[in-house]
Amino acid sequence: MTIYKEIEVQPVAGNLGAEIHGIDLREQLSDNIYKEVHQALLQYLVLFFRDQDLTPEQQKDFGRYFGELHVHPYIPALEGHPEIIALRSTENGPAEMAYQSNQWHTDLTYIDEPPMGSILWSQQSPPAGGDTMFLNLYRAFETLSPKMQEFVSDLTAVHDIVASMPDDFIEQSWAPNQLKRLQEITPPVEHPVVRTHPETGKKLLFVNANFTSHIKELSRPESTALLNHLYEHIAKPENVCRFNWQTNSVAFWDNRCTQHYAINDYDSLRVMHRVTMCGDKPY
Ligand SMILES: [Fe+2]
Repeated sequence: MTIYKEIEVQPVAGNLGAEIHGIDLREQLSDNIYKEVHQALLQYLVLFFRDQDLTPEQQKDFGRYFGELHVHPYIPALEGHPEIIALRSTENGPAEMAYQSNQWHTDLTYIDEPPMGSILWSQQSPPAGGDTMFLNLYRAFETLSPKMQEFVSDLTAVHDIVASMPDDFIEQSWAPNQLKRLQEITPPVEHPVVRTHPETGKKLLFVNANFTSHIKELSRPESTALLNHLYEHIAKPENVCRFNWQTNSVAFWDNRCTQHYAINDYDSLRVMHRVTMCGDKPY
């Protein structure tokens, strides 16, 4: 049992998520505060902070404690800040790209070294709706039967950026040469279905409905059936926590052992800034 002395840690659900109090993210973190935030991230997988009025520089500085900042291969950045993605809805609710976040997923698993984590800050939140859910991929693995754990542990998944893009979205959003370019920058990659977290050493289930196209060792019908079973298992409510955003809220998730789902149930403007920290090759 970890004792936190510098920060206050308030769990928000039984299996992941904690609100952190007693910290101002605009300031430099002392060694002890940094260590406790890092420890809390490993323990709770996603951390939430309130009332953090961050500038882009302050958000990037906080991210740099946890890794080199990642520049997204194709989502446009905030002007003057290539490391920040500005997620802006329309005045009437979710924007066109929202279909990718309105589904359970882990970010950027279609690259060789998916991010270690992301820090999302809310500049403007809808008065109601627009929550984000997160889930625990360690628990998803641990709650499979021993035989199923053994079976999936030998499998390899292919991850592809276009795996979940609906055909009509591809046709409307990408000119053929753009799509070709996108696939050239980010060709499909392979990751183990069961990944070991590089810091905790614990095993977890590393497949997601957005980017996992199939399992290499199985026939397509077998692969589809197994993945659908795993997605249903992963998304059990017991694995999930839910965060209600306010303006100036922050969520910091460990992208190596979680998935998230942005709930598109709002009808007003929502503006978020995301900073993402580089990760390593899953094994
Ligand atoms: Fe995401």
